[in-house]
Amino acid sequence: MSSSILEAMIVASLTGGSILRKYFEKENFSVIQKSVSYDLVTNIDKESQEGINAILSKHFPDIPVIGEEGSIQTGKQSQAFYVDPLDGTFNFVHKYPFFSVSLGYWENNEPVIGVVFDPVRRDLFYGQKGEGAYLNGERIHVSDRTSLEGSYLVTGFPYKEGKHPRIEKEIRSVMKLTDLRVLGSAALELCYVAKGIIDGYWEYDLSSWDLAGGVLIAQEAGAVVTSPSGGSFDLIEGDVLAASPVIHQKLLEALKY
Ligand code: IPD
Ligand code: CA
Ligand code: CA
Repeated sequence: MSSSILEAMIVASLTGGSILRKYFEKENFSVIQKSVSYDLVTNIDKESQEGINAILSKHFPDIPVIGEEGSIQTGKQSQAFYVDPLDGTFNFVHKYPFFSVSLGYWENNEPVIGVVFDPVRRDLFYGQKGEGAYLNGERIHVSDRTSLEGSYLVTGFPYKEGKHPRIEKEIRSVMKLTDLRVLGSAALELCYVAKGIIDGYWEYDLSSWDLAGGVLIAQEAGAVVTSPSGGSFDLIEGDVLAASPVIHQKLLEALKY
């Protein structure tokens, strides 16, 4: 069963990705501001969601889909697909080639399968619980760096200002040790932790569809995934810290400032 779910999720992610690739760098899409000036949605996000939902519901009509741009309700509560049809819309609109399609499949509030597709590089990341994480068929692992000094750390800024004072302090603390980046697609950032490119990543106030696929891929590549204060990761809370075990411990200390 789960291998056929993985197959359907891969087909769905490639379908969404081909829609994004078709419109990327073209001008013929409409952009709507959702909250702040950098919280955007386009008609392409919606077209990608429709393509993905059609595939998932055709193969698994009983499993609900929780999608950023459109959900499918069914009677089932114990299983769900979480779908972000375009993670990194701000980048997409600005023609910055770092965005993804993200799918997570969860059972009983536990991650089982993650699929994240980067349509620009044609990078297909996926993982299944207990079976490792892969990029285009090759097994991937978190970085083996042991020191925060000089490591590649990534964060992001929530749309709501509530957590900004805390993040400002965290940035000051971390930047005594190394540089810091904001790349703009939470799902892909988690996959770059899985690939060992990013040594550590944390962010607040994300949504379930941003995280549901990437956290499983990161965990299966050997990452520790918790909240940024070290508590257990909660998909609905949406606060995340992901890194190799060694960097995770050191980053937790650094974030206490
Ligand atoms: C956003 C991206 C971004 C994160 C934002 C998310 P969207 O998703 O994941 O990296 O910082 O909080 O909302 O809106 O492009 O799907
Ligand atoms: Ca997103
Ligand atoms: Ca999105």
